[in-house]
Amino acid sequence: MAQELIRVEQLAKEFYLDGDTIRVLEGINLSVNVGERLAICGESGAGKSTLLQIMGALDQPTSGNLLFSGDNVFSWSQEKLAGWRNARVGFVFQFHHLLPEFTALENVMIPSLIRGDSRKTADISARNILTRVGLSSRLQHKPGELSGGEQQRVALARALVLNPPLVLADEPTGNLDRKNSLEVEDLLFELNKEFGLALVVVTHSQRLADRMSRIIYLEDGSMREGIA
Ligand SMILES: Nc1ncnc2c1ncn2[C@@H]1O[C@H](COP(=O)(O)OP(=O)(O)OP(=O)(O)O)[C@@H](O)[C@H]1O
Ligand SMILES: [Mg+2]
Repeated sequence: MAQELIRVEQLAKEFYLDGDTIRVLEGINLSVNVGERLAICGESGAGKSTLLQIMGALDQPTSGNLLFSGDNVFSWSQEKLAGWRNARVGFVFQFHHLLPEFTALENVMIPSLIRGDSRKTADISARNILTRVGLSSRLQHKPGELSGGEQQRVALARALVLNPPLVLADEPTGNLDRKNSLEVEDLLFELNKEFGLALVVVTHSQRLADRMSRIIYLEDGSMREGIA
């Protein structure tokens, strides 16, 4: 039987701005199994990024729970939460969010160094995963010296370097041309298979959504299951 990795329960999220309440998510129940590939789709403003941020505990819900392997994530201490985000969840943003002053290699070493690994260990893991994403000849390049597709592959490597069971990607190909999009998509897909990681991708690309095992649509704060 499929094993559940992460689940959101009765999730609601409101923002408060200038006296107005913006209700973005309401009654969201969603569970993702180990190794599963899930696409989150919906119109701009539907709450996709908000949901993904909450799934990675980068943001707090107004109400509802987030369970990771059955454990209530928002009940953890800040320290435990930070450790979890660092080692167990790989986050890929639409605009890579790499540190501009650091090389590709250094950017990918960071999660490992934060965890307390030695420089040598961090260096080895970063080189390995950068090689896996096809960038062994770009280790010393800074983000500004890389193409958009390469930058996004570095971001993928950074998300994957500690071998997390869960990768959350917010429009990872939204900013790339067709060729680079395809490369990054293929890579995401291969890495999901190779490492057995669960992949949750927010995307406007029907092509990418069709490659997932399941699609959900967000609309007016609620979600419905689609057919992948
Ligand atoms: N910090 C905030 N304060 C107030 N409103 C916010 C905040 N963040 C998001 N919102 C609102 O919540 C709604 C959902 O935003 P979200 O970024 O999740 O949409 P999205 O589905 O990811 O859209 P897109 O496809 O354009 O990225 C939007 O209407 C947005 O204006
Ligand atoms: Mg978004």
